[in-house]
Amino acid sequence: MSADDAAPMLVFATSDKGGTGRSVTSCNIAYRLALHGLDVAYVDFDFGSPTAGALFEIGHAERGITDDRGMHSYLRGNTGEPRRLIVGRETDRPQLRRDAPGAGQLVLFPGDLGGAEFGCDNAMVARGTALFAQLLSEFAVVIVDLSAGRSVALEIALRATASTMLAHRAHRWLVFHRWTRQHVLAAGGLVHGQHGLIKTGAIWDRQRDKLLTVEKSEQARLASMRCVRTAVAASDWTHTVDRPAQAAWLKEQANALRELATANGIGAAMVLGQTPIEPMLQWREQLILDADVNAGLADPATVAAYTDLARRLTVPTTWDIE
Ligand SMILES: Nc1ncnc2c1ncn2[C@@H]1O[C@H](COP(=O)(O)OP(=O)(O)O)[C@@H](O)[C@H]1O
Ligand SMILES: [Mg+2]
Repeated sequence: MSADDAAPMLVFATSDKGGTGRSVTSCNIAYRLALHGLDVAYVDFDFGSPTAGALFEIGHAERGITDDRGMHSYLRGNTGEPRRLIVGRETDRPQLRRDAPGAGQLVLFPGDLGGAEFGCDNAMVARGTALFAQLLSEFAVVIVDLSAGRSVALEIALRATASTMLAHRAHRWLVFHRWTRQHVLAAGGLVHGQHGLIKTGAIWDRQRDKLLTVEKSEQARLASMRCVRTAVAASDWTHTVDRPAQAAWLKEQANALRELATANGIGAAMVLGQTPIEPMLQWREQLILDADVNAGLADPATVAAYTDLARRLTVPTTWDIE
């Protein structure tokens, strides 16, 4: 991963359910990418809950901004220039304000305070598409945090990536889910279901290009997707030796879950990586800095997981397409 080795990348962060760790994990990936020298845009497309500002500890944008220049206003056509917040300048967190040597710029495009979900129309799709194209010309990685489920945000993203303007640009999809039965079933449905990412994406692709076969389009969509398993419990149960029944049960469940994921088309081959349960994040949604590890507050494995996700996201070998 370096600042100049790859084409700009548009990354959509999705999940079927809320509370999957999509925003926290995406923000931490964005931060790690910036530390590695990449200019990164983080676009808050979670229209029902525009809280990305809180994760970067930007107090005045904790739940969206108030000057009617957030994402909601931009997509509705109320402003041509959405607000940009340079995280290193706007954050209240002192360690984030210090310029790390060689780091790229991390810029948040926040939502509007009080902004809510809205209906989708062609003009909104056009504005979203234009914004993504513009950001791809400025940033190495553009991460778009989408509202959960089959939302308007998702529709804009699917239609934008099917458009003539963006179809041939690198776009990637990360599907975040917890490592439980319900989350695995939900995430499998979001990827492969009748109204899921692949089938819906292919419908829009074929509206652009009538000669494209369903198979080809679905194949390309699938190849652009990976899952991220969040807050995964440790699989080391040596501490339960006193309770062998529990250890045996946990092992059995872990195996069953792996099988369920594979049966639902989101097995190991589809996984970009996973994050461990991080106590800090169980109490507070935030970036995990190296300083948190050095102070003995955060688990080193958490930072290792985010660094690894950032690396895998940007190395070409992860994506067997193009
Ligand atoms: N690795 C982790 N360990 C423990 N808690 C986590 C982890 N990742 C995320 N969380 C917590 O899970 C909750 C949901 O995360 P969030 O990113 O807000 O989900 P989403 O954006 O999918 O709704 C938050 O309280 C967050 O701090
Ligand atoms: Mg979120």
